[in-house]
Amino acid sequence: MAHFFTFTPKKKAATDIDFIHLIESTGMKILVATEKPFAKEAVDGIRRIVEDAGYELALLEKYTDKAQLLAAVADVDALIVRSDKVTAEVIGAAKNLKIVVRAGAGYDNVDLAAATARGIVVMNTPGQNSNAVAELALAMMVFMSRNRFTPGTGSEIQGKTLGIHAYGNVGRLVGRKGKAMGMNVIAYDPFITDSAVFEADGVKKVNSVEELYKNSDYLSLHIPATEQTKGSIGYDLLMSMPKGATLVNTARKEVIDEQGVMKALTEREDLKYITDIAAGIQSELNEKFGRRVFATAKKMGAETAEARRKVCSGSQCWFKPQAKPATMESPAPTVLTTDMRGGRACHQISLASQSTPSAPRDTTTCSI
Ligand code: 3PG
Repeated sequence: MAHFFTFTPKKKAATDIDFIHLIESTGMKILVATEKPFAKEAVDGIRRIVEDAGYELALLEKYTDKAQLLAAVADVDALIVRSDKVTAEVIGAAKNLKIVVRAGAGYDNVDLAAATARGIVVMNTPGQNSNAVAELALAMMVFMSRNRFTPGTGSEIQGKTLGIHAYGNVGRLVGRKGKAMGMNVIAYDPFITDSAVFEADGVKKVNSVEELYKNSDYLSLHIPATEQTKGSIGYDLLMSMPKGATLVNTARKEVIDEQGVMKALTEREDLKYITDIAAGIQSELNEKFGRRVFATAKKMGAETAEARRKVCSGSQCWFKPQAKPATMESPAPTVLTTDMRGGRACHQISLASQSTPSAPRDTTTCSI
């Protein structure tokens, strides 16, 4: 059942919360819309901040129908979500919307073009749930290496080569945990050219996607879903992997070329695929490949008590943008992220519109 509560503000006061600068006038309403709810502690923290500022908090949890979200956003000024889809339709229904906070890493669930057209700021909180996702990636490797815990048929991951595709917040944690498990870890990230970033973790940087897949017994995906990456992992890459290799996807469904994966699994009976985001053709994959494929029932990488608390508690959802004045004054819609890649902040992603040619045009994307 969906949860939709409203809370009347107890007092109206000026605060030093940066978020408030974005929604300065009085009587503002903030909606937390999470189909997969935050921990209660996180919601309590959000409520405290919102109510102390004199605003109203509305809560829509575990909703089952898009219509509920469309109705709930009708009068809100700010929206906090997880991977809930903030489509053009949702943005269109939210006439007063000024800011969307995606509590989590990827903001591919937010229609940035639609936000752009309305000058709506979009922010995220990368890094906060990374450990949960990284632990799941390792667990998935063990699960597959032990043949889904079938006695007498398993193998070990120690001594095997783990390839990490994109060395962002999650990828790094997977790399360090893989090292701790005795794996030989290699990684590829087109945005990180400095080998020292990898070497600091005892990880070897490789120079191409092809080199990465060709050498990985386990390949852990951590690329975001962008126009460049969608459908990019498929037949050729899988076919190049060593005998008995396993592809592990805790990133996004959209980066997979599902037909390509199906073809590779058909031609190579030694390959395996495990994912936290079921494929569109998952039932077909399950039927055809049995124990060689596995998908969690529901995306659960960040579904730990810790991640559900950290991802949007206290200051996390009231993130202090480094470039706040420029961002907020810019007519160009801006996505901010605190993501750190290679020790450098990837803090601002701007979608400069043609009407604002002077606006920043840094379209860097960050690993998730
Ligand atoms: C993220 O992008 O932060 C992770 O994929 C977790 O997403 P979730 O909020 O849907 O669990």
